Amino acid sequence: MSETPAVRRIGVYTSGGDAPGMNAAVRAVVRTAWHLEIGVHGIHRGYAGMMAGTIEPMGRRSVSNIIQQGGTILKTSRAPEFHTAEGRRKAADNLRAHGIDGLVCIGGDGSFRGALDLINEHGVPVVGVPGTIDNDLYGTDLTIGYDTAVNTALDAIDKLRDTGQSHDRMFIIEVMGRHAGFIGLASGIGGGAEEILIPETRTDVEAIAKRIHQRTAAGKTSLIMVVAEGDEIGGAIALGERLKESAGIDFRVSILGHMQRGGRPMAIDRLLASRLGYEAVNALAAGAFNVMVGEVNGEIVHTSLEDTFTRKKPINPALVELAEILAQ
Ligand code: F6P
Repeated sequence: MSETPAVRRIGVYTSGGDAPGMNAAVRAVVRTAWHLEIGVHGIHRGYAGMMAGTIEPMGRRSVSNIIQQGGTILKTSRAPEFHTAEGRRKAADNLRAHGIDGLVCIGGDGSFRGALDLINEHGVPVVGVPGTIDNDLYGTDLTIGYDTAVNTALDAIDKLRDTGQSHDRMFIIEVMGRHAGFIGLASGIGGGAEEILIPETRTDVEAIAKRIHQRTAAGKTSLIMVVAEGDEIGGAIALGERLKESAGIDFRVSILGHMQRGGRPMAIDRLLASRLGYEAVNALAAGAFNVMVGEVNGEIVHTSLEDTFTRKKPINPALVELAEILAQ
């Protein structure tokens, strides 16, 4: 880079729910900053650490041997105190005390909301890197961690299918996704689920019960339903109770939960994280101050932080239709 970078020392942090590939993103940020001769500090435990001042310099070797690790070496948190102006003032004071004049925030919508407040109130430039298994950020086709989480869910679904087939049992499997059905739809299609319930589509329990009876009448003895935790029905347990009550159908329920957030990142997440970590530092060096870097159709795009969480990223309706046809 020939021009003087717009930042001299940046801070990097991971925030909100952890996601496989966050470490690969941290590594890319640190190594790119070194390449551009920009100082880099790691902020531990996200906004909680920013307020507490747990901030340390990171050398190139501090990110050795982490690209393949799940979780985040910087640790992460959800920090309610950061929702207060006082909390954010403490954080800004600590950044100033460490000479940090730019931030890379690796996280999801809640983390970007916090970043925007920091920009507006304290003028600290922040570039976001999409890191959440939910894939619910506008401005990128994929978020870091999503693909690995889908593969983890698929592995569990395959195993539950084995036992379901052996016992002629019905399974309801709950996957993560508080407000979005990306994990549910992808793992449901990939796992060959007969029913997929996600927040973006209407759930009609009577219609589901009717289809199940039709399927059993046609000879199906075991069946898989995938439900996103954020579906209007209220999750797998609620759905199981409703189906038992209204149709006398007995399901085994399996809630996959936080296991979907762990594990070694898949190739897609490592590549995405490496690319976006690199782009985030370059964006800060070039003077960007409130964008998220994302990948759309293979190209790097910048989206205002606000748009990433105020604009809704739609589910692909063609996939919803595909799921219905293939489940017959
Ligand atoms: O945002 C990612 C996510 O894993 C959601 O899918 C899930 O609803 C939530 O985090 C769980 O958060 P926590 O770990 O704080 O319970």
